[in-house]
Amino acid sequence: MKIKINRELCIGCGLCASICEQVFEMDKEYKAVVKAQKDIPCVKEAIENCPVSAISK
Ligand code: F3S
Repeated sequence: MKIKINRELCIGCGLCASICEQVFEMDKEYKAVVKAQKDIPCVKEAIENCPVSAISK
């Protein structure tokens, strides 16, 4: 399992970081980054709710 963010797609909405703060955070360019590879339930929620489907695992 490897959680990935497609930076080309990410529009910086911040949803993933707000619903799953243990795994995602926003960087200085307002793109999401994976700060910890943790397979916890909110990862799935973030994948399903990202408006541009930029998260995969
Ligand atoms: Fe970007 Fe999607 Fe998160 S647009 S900030 S990866 S919810």
